[in-house]
Formats: sequence, C-alpha cells, structure tokens
Amino acid sequence: MRVCLVAAAFLLIFAPGVQGMTASSCVSCHGALDQRNSEPVRLWETDLHMESGLGCHDCHGGDPGSIDSAMSPSSGFKTAPSGRESVQLCGGCHSQADRIPDPTTATDQMHQYLSGSHGRSSRSDSPTCVTCHGSHGITRVSAPSSPVFPTRVVSLCIGCHGEETASGQPSPALYLDDVHGRTLSAAANPRSPACPDCHGSHRAAVPDTRGAVMICGNCHTMEYAYFQDGPHGDSLARTGEPSCIHCHGYHGIVATGIDEIIGQIADNCQGCHQAGNTAWETGRKIDEGLGVAMSFLSGLVSKSEDFRASGVDTAEMDRLYREARVQLLQVESAIHSVDSQWEELTGMAKVKMMASWDLARDYNLEKGIRRVVLLLMALLAAAILALLFYKLKLVEKDQQRRHLLGSPEAMQREQEYRRK
Ligand code: HEC
Ligand code: HEC
Ligand code: HEC
Ligand code: HEC
Ligand code: HEC
Ligand code: HEC
Ligand code: HEC
Ligand code: HEC
Ligand code: HEC
Repeated sequence: MRVCLVAAAFLLIFAPGVQGMTASSCVSCHGALDQRNSEPVRLWETDLHMESGLGCHDCHGGDPGSIDSAMSPSSGFKTAPSGRESVQLCGGCHSQADRIPDPTTATDQMHQYLSGSHGRSSRSDSPTCVTCHGSHGITRVSAPSSPVFPTRVVSLCIGCHGEETASGQPSPALYLDDVHGRTLSAAANPRSPACPDCHGSHRAAVPDTRGAVMICGNCHTMEYAYFQDGPHGDSLARTGEPSCIHCHGYHGIVATGIDEIIGQIADNCQGCHQAGNTAWETGRKIDEGLGVAMSFLSGLVSKSEDFRASGVDTAEMDRLYREARVQLLQVESAIHSVDSQWEELTGMAKVKMMASWDLARDYNLEKGIRRVVLLLMALLAAAILALLFYKLKLVEKDQQRRHLLGSPEAMQREQEYRRK
C-alpha cells in the first residue's frame, strides 16, 4: 500500500501539467478533484502569483513535494483562510517590500486597509482583500479583466453600497447616471473618476468638505485654481464652507451648458447669500455681463449664416467669433473666483467679437455691391428678354398675314376656278 502511494505520488508530481506548476502535488491532485476543489487549479493558470514563482503552499502551507503529508498540519498546512484571516495572509506578504519584486507595486495596502472604514468596521459583511481581488486567478489591477479595473470596480462597490445611505444623502447609485459615471462607462474615459478615485481603494473613507475640494481639484485644476484664489477659498480654509460639493453635489453631478446658466447665476448665489448684498450683486453682474456677451455671439453666428447663404466667404469672421466663444466658455471656470476675474475674459472676448463685427460690416458692403451688380444683370437680362419677345411677335404677325392672304399656289387655283 505504502509503495503504491509513493508510486502514485511520483507519477502525479512528474505528470505533464500546466507550465510552472508541474512539481506540485497540490496542483496534480487538486486538478483531478471535484469542481470546488479543482477550480483553484484552473484559475491558477493565469494567476500573477504563479507567474511570480509562488505556489499553493505560499498561501496554504503544506508540502507540495509530498503526497501523503501534503496537507498535514505537521507540514504547516492550514485550513483555507476565511474572512478577516485573509487580511493577515495577503497583507502580511504585501507589506514586505522584499517579497514583492516589482518596486512600483505599493506595499501599504494592509496598513491602509486597517485604518480605513472597511478595516475598522465590525460588520461581518465588510469587504476584505479577497472580496475585492479574489483568491485564485489574480491578475494585475491594470488588466481590464481585473475586478478592480475602473470600469468594473463600480459594480463591485455598488453591489454593497447601491441601496445604503445615511438618511437624506444622495445614494452612490446616482453615480451610474451622472456626468462622471456616464463618461466612464459610455466613453470608457479613464480620466473620469470611479468610486475609488474619490474614496480611496484601501483606506476607504468619506471625504469631508475640505478633502472633497482637494479630490475634485485633482482633475478640475482650472476651477480649483480660481476657487482657491477667491473669497470662497479663503472661507473654506477658515470654516470648511463652501466646498465644491455644496454647489455641485457629489453623487449625481450634472453637466450644465453655458446657455443654461445665464439668468440663473444670481439665483445660485442666493442659496447662501441674501439678494441685494455684495456677493449676490457679484452674481447678478456675472449674469448680466455673460448674458450680453452671449447674445452678441449668437447675433454674429446668425449674421454669418446669412452671409454664407448669399455666397460670402466668412472664414475670417468665423475664426474671430469662435476664439471669442472659447474665452466665454472659460468664464464657467472663472466664475469660481466669485470676483471680477470673469470680466477680463468677457473683455477679451468682446474685443474679438467687435473685430468680427467689423468684418461683418465689410461683408455687408460686399453684399450691397453684389446686390447692385445682380440688379444690373437682372435688368440687362430683362431687356434682352423684352427684345426677344418683340422680335418673336413680329415674326408671328408676319406669319399670320401670310396665312390670311394664303399661299401663291392657292391664289392661282382660285383664279382658275373663277375662270371656269
Ligand atoms: C492526494 C491528493 C491531494 C493533495 C496532494 C493535496 N490535496 Fe488539498 N485537498 C484534497 C482533497 C480530497 C480535499 C477535500 C477535502 C474535504 O473536502 O474534506 C482537499 C482540500 C484542500 C483545501 C481546502 C481545505 C479547507 O479548509 O476546506 C485546501 C486549501 C487544500 N486542499 C490545499 C492543498 C495544498 C496547498 C496542497 C499542497 C501542499 C494540497 N492541498 C495537496 C486532496 C489533496
Ligand atoms: C495568494 C494566496 C493563495 C494561493 C497562492 C492559493 N490559494 Fe487557495 N485559497 C486562498 C484563500 C484566501 C482561500 C479562501 C477564500 C476563498 O475560498 O476564495 C483559498 C481557498 C482554497 C480552497 C477552498 C475552496 C473552497 O471553495 O472552499 C482550495 C481547495 C484551495 N484554495 C486550493 C488551492 C490550490 C490547489 C492552490 C494552488 C494551485 C491554491 N489554493 C493557491 C488563497 C490562495
Ligand atoms: C474595497 C476593495 C478593496 C479591498 C478590500 C482591497 N483592495 Fe487592493 N485594490 C483595490 C483597488 C480598487 C485597487 C486599484 C487601485 C489602486 O491601486 O489603489 C487595488 C490595488 C491593489 C494592489 C496593486 C497596487 C499597485 O500599486 O499596483 C495590490 C497589491 C492590492 N490591491 C492588494 C490588496 C491587499 C493585500 C488587500 C488586503 C489588505 C487589498 N488589496 C484590499 C481594491 C481593494
Ligand atoms: C507569498 C507572498 C504573497 C501572498 C501571500 C500574496 N501575494 Fe499578492 N502578490 C505577490 C507577488 C510577488 C506579486 C507580484 C508583484 C509584482 O510583481 O508586482 C503579487 C501580486 C498581487 C496583485 C497584483 C498587483 C499589481 O501590480 O497589479 C494583487 C492584486 C495581489 N497580489 C493580491 C493578493 C491577494 C488578494 C492575496 C491574498 C489572497 C495575495 N496577493 C497574497 C505576493 C503575495
Ligand atoms: C462586501 C460589501 C462591500 C463592498 C464590496 C464595498 N463596501 Fe464599502 N463598506 C461596506 C461596509 C459593511 C462598510 C462599513 C459600514 C459601517 O461600518 O457602518 C463600508 C464602508 C464604506 C465607506 C464609509 C461609509 C461611511 O458612511 O462611513 C465608504 C466610503 C465605502 N465603504 C466605499 C466603498 C468603495 C469605494 C468600494 C469599492 C471599491 C466599496 N466600499 C466596496 C461594504 C462594502
Ligand atoms: C466625484 C467624487 C465621488 C465619486 C465618484 C463617488 N463618491 Fe461617494 N461620496 C463623495 C463625497 C464627497 C461624499 C461625502 C459627502 C458628504 O460630505 O457627506 C461621498 C459619500 C459616500 C458614502 C457615505 C454615505 C453617504 O451616502 O453619504 C458612500 C458609502 C459612498 N460615497 C460610496 C460611493 C460609491 C460606492 C461610489 C461609486 C458608485 C461613489 N461613492 C462615488 C464623492 C464621490
Ligand atoms: C458657489 C457655488 C460653486 C462652488 C463652491 C463651486 N462651483 Fe463649480 N460651478 C458653479 C457654477 C455656477 C458653474 C457654472 C454652471 C455649470 O457649468 O454648472 C460651475 C461650473 C463648474 C464646472 C464646469 C465648468 C465648464 O467649463 O463647463 C466644473 C468642472 C466645476 N464647476 C467644478 C467645481 C470644482 C472642482 C469646485 C471646487 C473647487 C467647484 N466647482 C466649486 C458653482 C460652484
Ligand atoms: C478623476 C478625475 C475627476 C475627479 C476626481 C472629479 N472629476 Fe468631475 N469630471 C471629470 C471628467 C473626466 C468629467 C467629464 C467632462 C469633462 O471632460 O470635463 C467631469 C465632469 C464634471 C462636471 C461637468 C462639467 C461640464 O462640462 O459641465 C462637473 C460639474 C464636475 N465634474 C464636478 C466635479 C466635482 C464637484 C468633483 C468632486 C466631488 C469632481 N468633479 C471630481 C473628472 C473628474
Ligand atoms: C454653498 C453656499 C454658498 C454659495 C452657493 C455661494 N456662496 Fe459666496 N460665500 C459663501 C460663504 C460661506 C462665504 C464666506 C462667508 C461670508 O463672507 O459670507 C462666501 C463669501 C462670498 C464673497 C465674499 C464675501 C462677501 O460677502 O462679499 C463673495 C463675493 C461671494 N461669496 C460671492 C458669491 C457668488 C457670486 C455666488 C454665486 C455664484 C456665491 N457666492 C455662492 C457661501 C456661498
């Protein structure tokens, strides 16, 4: 019996298997077991740990070089880790730089995890390393098939946080349909934040109002710079208000076009400032200045369309007002300084629009000259037509006269008849 087992072990260990795992009794034996016990072997084929030269025993203990004592406690075998146990297992290795060959892979996950909401929570449904990364078949987190790849991690987080919110707070599920969620899923734009970009991945946390400004400011650098430059930035540093999220929210953020905000800006300020005071007055001035500039712009656009319809080349006029539009769009960022910085931009846009308007006047003149030339040409054509008509009438009259008188042969025949 003993001899038989040893022979079997020999065969199993040296039987052809997946490359890199041939010399493991764990792989050989488990590969032939039921679904639950062979699944780890199937997934192991694409596991980054296998590629890095690790074996089953690096996580489970045991002796991969033996068959009968492979899983004996004396060879260090432990039962599969459950729940929180995996944190010490995975985190234990991943916190030691000398065990992680790639120096660009961080080694702070366990430390971060234990100090974050998930690690500190006493709830049994709080996620561990294995909940987010799996245990077998682990790939690089940058691989699109990784469960924590940006476009996939959202459904992982939503799986637990879709319903739950503190009372009255906007649900994280609103993210799916907001400007960030749509940009990430529809355009697969990795510059758009997934849940971990705002909450962290290992040290999961709810940012406070100051933290939120830093997070949003990571990507929206222009708005951040204007915001910090103005009285709202000063006030945030002193009191923690106002923050980006007081005006925009955080789950369910909507994109607003410049045309939609005109006439609404002062109302927006009125959420926190009394109508009539300096702050509100600033808002009203932005509303008014931007409103005038935008209607000037749309006037230029429709003028240019008219010109083009009558054949005028409007390229130069168009270039100027397009440049002005870019400057006006920047006012949406400059608003965040809530002082007069927006005026500089509308001022520059106005200079461009005036130049565009001057060209429009030149085009008008050109259009006038074109009209006179066209009129003269039309008159000439009419005169020629009239002349042709007159000539035609003359020919017709001549033919009629001939018809009445009849042809010479007919006259001759009549004379002969009379003679008879
Ligand atoms: C000769 C076959 C054989 C070898 C060799 C073997 N296993 Fe197993 N292993 C089994 C069987 C059978 C089970 C299922 C036991 C059960 O369900 O009670 C099992 C169960 C396990 C489990 C699940 C235990 C639990 O807690 O539920 C782990 C983990 C495991 N093996 C790891 C290993 C590792 C690591 C090695 C190599 C060091 C190894 N096995 C070698 C046959 C083997
Ligand atoms: C990176 C660490 C790691 C490596 C390497 C690893 N495992 Fe596991 N394994 C775990 C963890 C964690 C669990 C428990 C959580 C789970 O069930 O996913 C587990 C569970 C298991 C189970 C129990 C499955 C069940 O559903 O109860 C088996 C069997 C098993 N592993 C076999 C293996 C075999 C065979 C290998 C080598 C091919 C291997 N493991 C390599 C971490 C690892
Ligand atoms: C709530 C889900 C979640 C939990 C729990 C979690 N991770 Fe992660 N992990 C992520 C996400 C998302 C990323 C990718 C973004 C990043 O690198 O921060 C990641 C990245 C990683 C990376 C790659 C880091 C790098 O620099 O490339 C490692 C290694 C890692 N996690 C290990 C762990 C370990 C070990 C644990 C347990 C202590 C753990 N993770 C717990 C979600 C999680
Ligand atoms: C014996 C040490 C060890 C253990 C235990 C271990 N890992 Fe790893 N892990 C590694 C090594 C080595 C790499 C490859 C590192 C590299 O080259 O970047 C790696 C890579 C990873 C990566 C990919 C990192 C990246 O760059 O994208 C993740 C995710 C990961 N491990 C998660 C886990 C999880 C989850 C567990 C527990 C189930 C675990 N590890 C247990 C050593 C270990
Ligand atoms: C397996 C379920 C589960 C998954 C997956 C999960 N979480 Fe959690 N999360 C929890 C639990 C449980 C808590 C702790 C709640 C408590 O203790 O009150 C928590 C807490 C949090 C908190 C703190 C909430 C608060 O009010 O203090 C944030 C933020 C958070 N998770 C974000 C994330 C993000 C981002 C992801 C995805 C990378 C994620 N979670 C994945 C279950 C989960
Ligand atoms: C653009 C940044 C951003 C993104 C993306 C984001 N959140 Fe949040 N989230 C926040 C902010 C900011 C707060 C805290 C607001 C406050 O002060 O109450 C928050 C609060 C939370 C809370 C605490 C409970 C609550 O509802 O107030 C949880 C849980 C949470 N988010 C989960 C998620 C999940 C899951 C996702 C992905 C589906 C996600 N968040 C996407 C910024 C974001
Ligand atoms: C006092 C209210 C308020 C605060 C605080 C605020 N915003 Fe805004 N934000 C606005 C208004 C009003 C607009 C213009 C209307 C719009 O596009 O939604 C705007 C526009 C934006 C836009 C769109 C700009 C564009 O070009 O389309 C972004 C991005 C933005 N804000 C980000 C931020 C960030 C990041 C912060 C924090 C640093 C912040 N906002 C703070 C009111 C605010
Ligand atoms: C990881 C980068 C990133 C983070 C962090 C981020 N955003 Fe965004 N945000 C984007 C991208 C990408 C878009 C898509 C539209 C674009 O290209 O500007 C966007 C769009 C927006 C828009 C709509 C802009 C428009 O055109 O009207 C607003 C408002 C906005 N974000 C506010 C915020 C706020 C508030 C926060 C913080 C709570 C935040 N964002 C955090 C990248 C980010
Ligand atoms: C979410 C609340 C909030 C909104 C909305 C808001 N502010 Fe403020 N604002 C503050 C706080 C808080 C301060 C600092 C305390 C103070 O001086 O009243 C401040 C201060 C100011 C100041 C400097 C102090 C003063 O009263 O002269 C100006 C100017 C200002 N805001 C303009 C605006 C404009 C313009 C808008 C609309 C685009 C706006 N604010 C919208 C909260 C807000």
